[in-house]
Amino acid sequence: MTPEAVTSTAAIELRGIRHRFGEVAALADVTFTINRHERLGIVGPSGCGKSTLLSAIAGLIQPDEGTVEIDEATTPGERLRRCALMPQRDLLLPWRTAIDNAAIALQNRGMKRSEAREQARPLFERFGLAEFEERTPDELSGGMRQRVAFLRTLMAQKDILLLDEPFAALDSITRSGMQEWLLSALEQEPRTALLVTHDVDEALLLTHRVIVMSARPGRIVRTLETDLARDRPRREIVTSPEFTALKETALESLEL
Ligand SMILES: Nc1ncnc2c1ncn2[C@@H]1O[C@H](COP(=O)(O)OP(=O)(O)O)[C@@H](O)[C@H]1O
Ligand SMILES: [Mg+2]
Repeated sequence: MTPEAVTSTAAIELRGIRHRFGEVAALADVTFTINRHERLGIVGPSGCGKSTLLSAIAGLIQPDEGTVEIDEATTPGERLRRCALMPQRDLLLPWRTAIDNAAIALQNRGMKRSEAREQARPLFERFGLAEFEERTPDELSGGMRQRVAFLRTLMAQKDILLLDEPFAALDSITRSGMQEWLLSALEQEPRTALLVTHDVDEALLLTHRVIVMSARPGRIVRTLETDLARDRPRREIVTSPEFTALKETALESLEL
C-alpha cells in the first residue's frame, strides 16, 4: 500500500501513558496517534513496556496515567471490542483443535461451527498448516502454534490489529513467507495495524512508520517514516541505500 492510502483520520490516540507494576516503572509518558489503515511498528529493548502498551490499548489494563482512544471510544470494554490482539504468548485453548481455535472469533459471533471451520481451512493451507487442523496445541510446534494464533487474530475481522512479536517463534524462511503474506494481505484489505517486534528489518519492511522506544521505563526516542517502495523483491529492498540508512538510524537509536 502506498502511504497515500493511509487516511488522515486517527484510529488510535494515546496521550501521556504512564504505567507502573509496583516498584517497576514500565512506561513513561507515551504519546502517539495511528491513522486509519496506517501500519505502525514499535521496536525497543526487552522489558521496555511494549507488551504493556498493547495491553493498555486493547483495554486489558488501565494505565496509571494518560488516555487511550480508539475511534473515540475510551472505556476498556469498548476498546477491546474494536481490536484483535495477538498476545506474545499464544493463549490457544488447549482443549480445542487448531482449526477450532482459529475459528473461535467467528463462532463467538454466532457463526455455525462447520461454517467457521470452512472459512479457516484455506488459511491453514496457505500457512503450511494443512493436515494439522485437528491437532490440539500441545501436538504442535511453537512456530505452528504461533501461526494458529496469528490466523485466529486475522479471522476476528477487526479493523485494528495489535500484533505482539507475531513471528518471533518462526525460523527465518517461514518468517519471510509470513511477512510477505501479511504485507500483501494488508495491501489488498487495509487495516490499522500495530506491530511490536524485536526485528528492526521486519518493522521497516512491514510498516509505514516505526517508533523506537528507550529501555524501561519505555518512552519514544525516535520516529522513522519508512516510505519505501515495496513493489520489488525483498532482497532489493533490504539492500537499498534508503533501507540501509533507516536501519542504521534505528540501530543507533536503540544504542546497538
Ligand atoms: N503483570 C506484571 N506484573 C509485574 N510486572 C510486570 C507485569 N507485566 C510486565 N511487567 C514488567 O514491566 C516491564 C515491561 O514489561 P513488558 O511490557 O512485557 O515489556 P516488553 O514487552 O517490552 O518486553 C518489565 O520489567 C516487566 O517485567
Ligand atoms: Mg513483550
